[in-house]
Amino acid sequence: MTEATTRPVTLPLARVRPLDPPEDLARWREEDPIRPLAYPDGHQGWLVTGHAAARAILADPRFSTRIDLLHMPIPQRAAQFRSTLRRPGFFLRMDPPDHTRYRRLLAGQFTVRRMKLLEPRIEEITRDHLDAMEDVGGPIDLVRAFALPIPSLVICELLGVPYADRKKFQRDSAVLLSLDSTLEEVEAAMNDLLDYLDELVRRKRAEPDDDLVSGLATDTDLTDEELTGITTLLLIAGHETTANMLALGTYALLRNPAQLAAVRDKPEVVEDAVEELLRYLTVIHIGPVRAALEDVEIDGRLIRAGESVTLSVSAANRDPERFPEPDELDVTRNAGGHLTFGHGIHQCLGQQLARTEMRIAYPALLRRFPGLRLAVPPEEVPMRTNMAIYGVHRLPVTW
Ligand code: HEM
Repeated sequence: MTEATTRPVTLPLARVRPLDPPEDLARWREEDPIRPLAYPDGHQGWLVTGHAAARAILADPRFSTRIDLLHMPIPQRAAQFRSTLRRPGFFLRMDPPDHTRYRRLLAGQFTVRRMKLLEPRIEEITRDHLDAMEDVGGPIDLVRAFALPIPSLVICELLGVPYADRKKFQRDSAVLLSLDSTLEEVEAAMNDLLDYLDELVRRKRAEPDDDLVSGLATDTDLTDEELTGITTLLLIAGHETTANMLALGTYALLRNPAQLAAVRDKPEVVEDAVEELLRYLTVIHIGPVRAALEDVEIDGRLIRAGESVTLSVSAANRDPERFPEPDELDVTRNAGGHLTFGHGIHQCLGQQLARTEMRIAYPALLRRFPGLRLAVPPEEVPMRTNMAIYGVHRLPVTW
């Protein structure tokens, strides 16, 4: 441990190269994969940039994800999170046994069978959007025409949320995920979304259908408030993350033509390609964050009870000790073991759905438009550095 690695740093978000994590992270990972981090509220906690340490902490029950215990590494995020995410049903921010109860109920609904049944429907939705793109012609914004509507429609159908109401929840979740939103804006967006979903839950109770929210309403003892919380979490988690993967992944492939050609022309590569894009792009570019429930020693560092730990999965996914040549996008490599879906008891519940959507959507897009290309110089594509989920705000393309 040198003086350089004991001095607290702040979490960087600005990037020199849009597809690589902020440069300091790589240097810090080399110096010390667990180092002191100054949190904007004055707390001094930790930043983890190494893959092995991040994975170990995510699997360790001595670390909590409870919102009331966490300090957030980004200004404003702390207050936003505390006021909006502390409610029944938001099990992403709960520890066992509360978390276990919700997770079990959800796992019972998020079955492999239900995900499998969705496959032909995802293919159909993808085809419809490609047809519409062809009708309109380029240049178009791929985020609006393809990357956002596909996961948005899929999660709506799965949950039983009317897609016609998408403007409302897409706008609300954009406010919730923007690091530039004020606390008032976040609270207003959250209340708006909760009111809307509260009404939906009541309708599902009265007239259940075969969707997931109806299933939870009829098969479980969840209260309306809990059901609304769960639906909110799934709706936000289910469309923003995958949408950004689709748009940013296409941008990355357009900048790496040989990799793009492999995804387009070799169906046997697609499964690995999706894992590699998940690793390389790591759209979860801030956390996850945990708080130590007791003193824990990891790699010679003593993390004291109450201290927050920010696990930079974007740095961990580029750790050369875990992935050879980590800064290369190589769609044929085995990227298994990446931490983009997290790890441990909170590992992403929707990961199979997200994978299915990506495995269908990337090759379908590239095959339909073999001449797909950026309609602006690559450096003019606006990046989502200011959002909780990284990606592109817009992706102007033509073909
Ligand atoms: C590429 C797309 C996605 C990425 C990168 C992603 C990433 C993540 C990560 C990193 C976590 C763990 C957070 C933590 O440990 O603090 C998580 C949890 C979760 N994700 Fe995803 N996710 C994606 C898609 C989805 C989809 C499509 C859904 C819903 C259909 C979903 C629902 C959830 C839920 C409910 C949790 C909380 C699980 C728990 O706390 O037990 N995610 N996701």
